[in-house]
Amino acid sequence: MKKPIRVAVTGAAGQIGYSLLFRIASGAMLGPDQPVILQLLDITPSLPALNGVVMELDDCAFPLLQGIVQSDDPKVAFKDVDIALLVGARPRGPGMERKDLLEANGAIFTAQGKALNEVASRDVKVLVVGNPANTNAYIAMKNAPDLNPANFTAMMRLDHNRALTQIAQKTSTAVTDINKMIIWGNHSATQYPDLFHATVKGQSASALINDQKWLETEFIPTVQQRGAAIIKARGLSSAASAANAAIDHIRNWVLGTTDGDWVTMGVPANGEYGYSDLIFGYPVTCKDGKYTIVEGLEISEFSRTRMDVSAKELSEERDAVKHLIGN
Ligand code: NAD
Ligand code: LMR
Repeated sequence: MKKPIRVAVTGAAGQIGYSLLFRIASGAMLGPDQPVILQLLDITPSLPALNGVVMELDDCAFPLLQGIVQSDDPKVAFKDVDIALLVGARPRGPGMERKDLLEANGAIFTAQGKALNEVASRDVKVLVVGNPANTNAYIAMKNAPDLNPANFTAMMRLDHNRALTQIAQKTSTAVTDINKMIIWGNHSATQYPDLFHATVKGQSASALINDQKWLETEFIPTVQQRGAAIIKARGLSSAASAANAAIDHIRNWVLGTTDGDWVTMGVPANGEYGYSDLIFGYPVTCKDGKYTIVEGLEISEFSRTRMDVSAKELSEERDAVKHLIGN
């Protein structure tokens, strides 16, 4: 039997938490032979609801679930964790952009970055889901100076998965036929879903589709605005698809990506494609628990303009949270 992996989930009593925890405990994230210990964090008023979720986890009798910690103290929930899924934060409502949440949510990630720095495993892999995810990941990373900055990531995988399905539907193929999709930049309306490196059954997706109007007026805006469309339709932000993307993100990071393909992760930019000091959506391959940014891709002027818009928005968000970057 393998040693259990300690997985922290914040906002565990929330709607994403409810879609996420049962799948982690069932082995969907780390594999069918990997035991886990769940370390669940929520705020004090949500602890009774969290206790209800824990009762349900107990009632599933998951063979891989070797323990559950529940707390409203990040230093308890993050103690020795190998993986931290930072979900807990306010979601946006209709008419809001994700960056409108910076004021309400940013400070959460100062405190949680500090707590991870103090008590988590020195190799902890952090995924920030709470919005605005990229800048919140940046805040957490900057507040955890003793941890490897490369281990702070933000979730762009939901956007990536949304794009895969749009292409599969347009080309009447299966999502498994689509490879090498990229979402550059911010998990926001400025993200740039880049079709120009994607393939469908090994053929260039843009050559096969050959429809610039669809690309500009349907594909790109649909992926960029999908979160808002779900909020409008459901009255609540995406939850099951967000939890699914978090599971995909961590599974690939820990267990690796498929040969010949890549995925999108929001990771610290250190000059790749001209961007730095941001958490930016990049194509990455993963092996042996580490990700590598895919470099050397040719970037057209059409793409570069859009990537720059998203980078500019991220630097503005970064400038707006300077007061949350402690030392
Ligand atoms: P929710 O309101 O249902 O749940 C949020 C939970 O977080 C609640 O239980 C709340 O008590 C808890 N919480 C609040 N402050 C906390 C803190 N300081 N520490 C720990 N827990 C705290 O919201 P949800 O629908 O689960 O969404 C959570 C976040 O994920 C939102 O910010 C949402 O916008 C974001 N989100 C991101 C993506 C993405 O692709 N990156 C996708 C969907 C949702
Ligand atoms: C999403 O993309 O569905 C989430 O980020 C929720 C939102 O606010 O759009």
